[in-house]
Order: sequence, then structure tokens, then C-alpha cells
Amino acid sequence: MPATLSKPAPRQLFVTTALPYANGKFHIGHIMEYIQADIWVRFQRMQGHTVHFVCADDAHGAPIMIAAEKAGMTPQQFVADIAAGRKPYLDGFHIAFDNWHSTDGPENHELARAIYRDLKAAGLIATRTIEQFFDPEKNMFLPDRFIKGECPKCGTRDQYGDNCENCGAVYSPTELKNPYSALSGVTPVLRNSEHYFFQLSDPRCVAFLEEWTQDTGHLQMEVYNKIREWLLPTETEDGVKSHGLSDWDISRDAPYFGIEIPDAPGKYFYVWLDAPIGYLASLKNHFAKQGLDYDAFMADPATEQYHFIGKDIITFHTLFWPALLHFSGRKTPNAVFVHGFLTVNSEKMSKSRGTGLDPLKYLSLGMNPEWLRYYIAAKLNSRNEDVEFSPEDFMARVNADLVGKYINIASRSAGFISKRFEGALGEVSADGDALLSHLQDAAAPVAELYAEREFGKALREVMLLADRVNEYVDQNKPWELAKKADMETRLQDVCTTCIQAFRLLTTYLKPVLPELAAQVEAFLKVEPLTFDGAGTRLPAGHAIGEYRHLMQRVDVKQLEALFEPAPAPAAEAAEETLALPGGEAISPLITIDDFAKIDLRIALIVNCEPVEGSTKLLRLTLDAGEGRHRNVFSGIASAYQPADLIGKLTVMVANLAPRKMKFGVSEGMVLAASAADEKASPGIYVLNPWPGAQPGMRVR
Ligand code: 2FM
Ligand code: ZN
Repeated sequence: MPATLSKPAPRQLFVTTALPYANGKFHIGHIMEYIQADIWVRFQRMQGHTVHFVCADDAHGAPIMIAAEKAGMTPQQFVADIAAGRKPYLDGFHIAFDNWHSTDGPENHELARAIYRDLKAAGLIATRTIEQFFDPEKNMFLPDRFIKGECPKCGTRDQYGDNCENCGAVYSPTELKNPYSALSGVTPVLRNSEHYFFQLSDPRCVAFLEEWTQDTGHLQMEVYNKIREWLLPTETEDGVKSHGLSDWDISRDAPYFGIEIPDAPGKYFYVWLDAPIGYLASLKNHFAKQGLDYDAFMADPATEQYHFIGKDIITFHTLFWPALLHFSGRKTPNAVFVHGFLTVNSEKMSKSRGTGLDPLKYLSLGMNPEWLRYYIAAKLNSRNEDVEFSPEDFMARVNADLVGKYINIASRSAGFISKRFEGALGEVSADGDALLSHLQDAAAPVAELYAEREFGKALREVMLLADRVNEYVDQNKPWELAKKADMETRLQDVCTTCIQAFRLLTTYLKPVLPELAAQVEAFLKVEPLTFDGAGTRLPAGHAIGEYRHLMQRVDVKQLEALFEPAPAPAAEAAEETLALPGGEAISPLITIDDFAKIDLRIALIVNCEPVEGSTKLLRLTLDAGEGRHRNVFSGIASAYQPADLIGKLTVMVANLAPRKMKFGVSEGMVLAASAADEKASPGIYVLNPWPGAQPGMRVR
């Protein structure tokens, strides 16, 4: 037996991802960041640590105010609409934030004002009259994002007025070369306005940030090297030396959607001042809901605070944010973890131009969210590097590694245990013991890789272990042992070794594949898997459940559909025409009570086969969580191969009276969409619920 892994001393962590602007849907770049953080959080929880994992909508700022106005809504309504659309993405990809809040929530208003007051008391707030761009046509001061021009540092064209997407420089809009108003296109004029500044040029701030950024625990090396440019003294043309930090303009004039600055009517905090404070606000809101003490938690020196962010917002998080916290007398982050951008087919995904891989389309095509989690994890490391999504590579890794190597271990062994040994595991002999010890020894190094966010390396380790197990299966050939009467004990021994190995590998994959791990826990009839549990094995005699195929392979057609461009909208507006796409008029009205009579349930298609003597029907075996299976005939043979349906969820009418048919009794009905005339407009589409639905859930 290997050295047992001791459980680490419990820690308390506060983890965030960047707060997305509340003016658009998530794109794949957001999902990648959330998956990265979610894996890390799940890993920490498996280690027994307490983690509070929160996010929120970044609600404020002029762009959102202007977008709301265009949409004919108040900014609050606009932001609420965006927030309402978040859930399907998060649930769909198993991203388990403990709380989702908004920077427009009362906690953030309070916290931002409190932090500002503390900074003011520390003597770090100043006011100055500045010249600012004013759009003479729109008659308003122009928000940074609505002034465009050439980056003063690198010269890239069409950059926004606050920072450069190309080189990451942060500057004020008046520094842009050849500026123009993005609202009206006119060249803006300069007008005076009084602004509030956070005095980052104060020697106290400079000294603090020099020290804070140098601490290797806080920043990745490449991030520190980048940020150092901002702190290093630079020599101006006339030979005057100055350090790179200038005071930060934290106010904006009305009209502005944001938080009003105390004692400064008509002045609002710049959105980037209150956005990171939203991390604290979301945590506070979460603690209030849980009945926990936010102040005590944040005052506890043992509390660890981590932020996952993208490389485009480094300056805000590694200079402004730690300084804001420190000089307002608050705890500073333990680390800021920066990741690169996701490129899809080698095309850069920018914040504002998120195209390429539509996360909801991915889910709606029935693609398994854990394929994407696995693929992204396999590509991630702890450095600030871009990640490339390539469809071919995605398919190869999921099909060959995840399914071909890992899932395969269970599918090659579990059937024998249930069919031949009534589900009972046996003893493991010396060769199996050596293999399992090798797998168990990997628990500590794999855990270490997760802790360091070296997910790609962790998964490579796990796949190497899976290779070893498959070699063992190939050497022992359980399918041949099964044919020999005197090999019963050896068959049970070999398959037991495989199941034990599968349990260990599942433990190591659980942060990445939480849903699958839950299914495996149910199938193996074990408590939730943890890394320290990898030091143990299942005892001989332990009974496992019946094996059901755990994961399908990626079908190339799904990838083709995923990247197929959306069809151009039809020339005439759809609502102009009375003919419904299905060619069938709406039925007469019914009451809600009529509808409630139909008991619709989520059902798992456990098996599906052709019906001999029928070209129309398929025979489905359905599990609606009743502890028994149902036999249902469905007229969908023209549209589906039986194998396509096995393992999928669908919706079944559960209280339809059984019908005796020529081929047997049908005990329900599955729901499918079709046009009135299937021949004229072919296609039958079996209903498939959103990921997360479980067999037996009622559809209402
Ligand atoms: O860049 C962005 O998408 C910002 N909304 C991120 C804010 S992170 C935090 F500071 F709120
Ligand atoms: Zn630039």
C-alpha cells in the first residue's frame, strides 16, 4: 500500500472571477475563465477547504447607460435583463458560483463610498480641474469608451479612450492620437470639469506597490515583469525622472450610471473604481444570505483572497485594486491569477468581439459540457498564455483520451462484476495491488498540480495512469477469462482492480468532471470522492451498481454544426405571416388544470432498438426515476438511429394509459416535434431537456 495522503489543514478562501459587463451575453472567453476558476475551487473543496466563490454583473458605466437608452429601458431594467440570461450558461457548464450579484446592489454602493471615505481620510484623494473631451453634437462629456483613436504607446488604431487592447497601456483619453467621438463621429472639443483622483503617485502608494507586486506569491512572473514597466522610473525628454504611476482619475460627470461620490453632487465613481469592490459586495451579499459574518471573515488574517482575471485587465487588478484595499485599511489579495485569451481556430477572441464558439449553441446541440471542461483544462497551465481551441484537437482529446482511455476502463470491466458476481468486488492480487499502489502514489503530485493551476499537466498525468490500467486490461483480457470456467476468481480479481483504478482516476478527474464523478459515485455506491480518500480502496465484497455507459464520443457532425455560420435572417419579418412553421393551427384553449392532468417527466433512454416488422417504430427503454423501466414504442425510426438515442434524456408522458400494440405494450409516450405533414416538411425532433435535468423530474 502507498503512503497515505494526509488531509491538509482546512483553509478559508474567497475566490472570484472578473465581473462581466452587464451589456452582453457571455462568450466563450468568459466561460473559459469560469471553468478555470471552478476547477480550482472544486479542487480546493475536495481538499476539505471552505471556499466562497462569487461573481456579479459589472453594471455601471456610460456604455451600459447608453445601451439602455438605445433599448428604451432604464439602466436598472437593462442590467436585470442581462442578469436573467446568465443561468443557462452557468448551470449548463457546471460553473458553481455560490453567489451572483450586481455592482449596482446596495452593498456595493455602501462599500464603494466607505472605501472612498477611508482613502480620503488617508489623504489620498485630490480634486483637480481637468480638460476633458466633450461631444459638441451630443452635448455631453464623452465617456472613455466613446472616444476612439490611436494608442499613445503602440500606435494601434481604433483603441478606446481608457486602455489599449493591443499593448495593455492605460491612459487618459486626451492622450489618444487623432481622437473622434464614437457617438457622433465628430472630433471632440476640450472642456473643463472638476475631477477626483486617487493619488497613486504618492510615495506611499509607490512604495507599497513596489513591494506588493514583487512578492512572488502575488503575481505570476510574466505578470510582474509586465507590471514593472509601470512602476519603473522613466526619464522624460528634458531629463526629468518620474516613476510610471500617475494619479488615477476616479470620477465622471453626470449623466452617468454609477455610484454618486459622497459630498460631490453630480459626480460619480468611474466604473473601474466600483467594479472590483463588487467582489466584496457579492461576498457580503452571499454572507448575509447564509447568515455568516462578513466583517469577521474579512478581518480574519487566515482568510485568503484570490482573483482569476484575463490579461487585458492586469493593471486594474495588480496596481489600482491592491492600493485601494491597502490604503483603505483592508486586506489585499493573496494572488491575482491571470490567464490569456482563448483563440478559436486561431482567431483571437476579444472581449467586445466574442465570436467563434457560441456556448449556448454548443449546449443546444447536445454537446456534453464536460467535454469542453476537459478540453479547456487540458490546455490550461498556470501562466498568462493564450489557449487555442481547435476542433480536431478537441475531438481527438475527448474521444481518444477521455472516452477511449478513461471511460473505457469501466466499460471493459464493470459488466462482468454485475453479471457474474452480482455486483460484488473481490480481492486484488499482487499485480493489481502494484498497479493500484502506483495510481494511489499519484494523488499527492496530481493534487499539487491542481493547486498550482497546472491543469494540463495534471490531466496528462491522469491519462498516463489510464494508459497503465489499459495495458493491464490488455494483458489480462477479462473477456477471455470470462470464457474459462476455472478463471472465475481471476476474472473477479482483474475486474476489481479495474474498478478500483477507475475510482482513483475519477477522483483525480473530479474537479474537471463534477457531473460525471457524481454519476460514478452513484454507480460505485461510494461517498463523495476526495484526494485523501485516494489512500483507501473499496473492500472486497463491496457491491457496486449496474454500469450504464457514462460518456458518448464527440460526433464530427456536432462540431460541423457548432461552427456552421448562422443562417442570414429571412428578408420578410416572420411575424408578418400567419402560417406557422409547422403548418398547423394552434389548438383551442385549455385551462391550466387541463394541462396539469398531463404528467410529463424527464426520462433517460436506457436502451433503444429497432422493432422487427416495423419501419416506423423504435422500442425505447425509459428510466423516469421510478425504480423500474418502461417500455415505450415511438414512431421515430425514420429520424434516429437507436444508438443516437441511448444515454440521452427526453420528455415522456408518464400517465398515459398503457396501450397494447402489435409488438407489445407501450407504457408511455415520448415527446417529439414535427410539421403537420412530415413528408412535405420532413424531420422529427425528439425533445431533449437542458443539461442538469434529472430522470423523474416533472415538466410543468
Ligand atoms: O473587463 C471587464 O469585463 C470588466 N467588466 C471586468 C471587471 S472585473 C472587476 F474589477 F470587477
Ligand atoms: Zn497600445
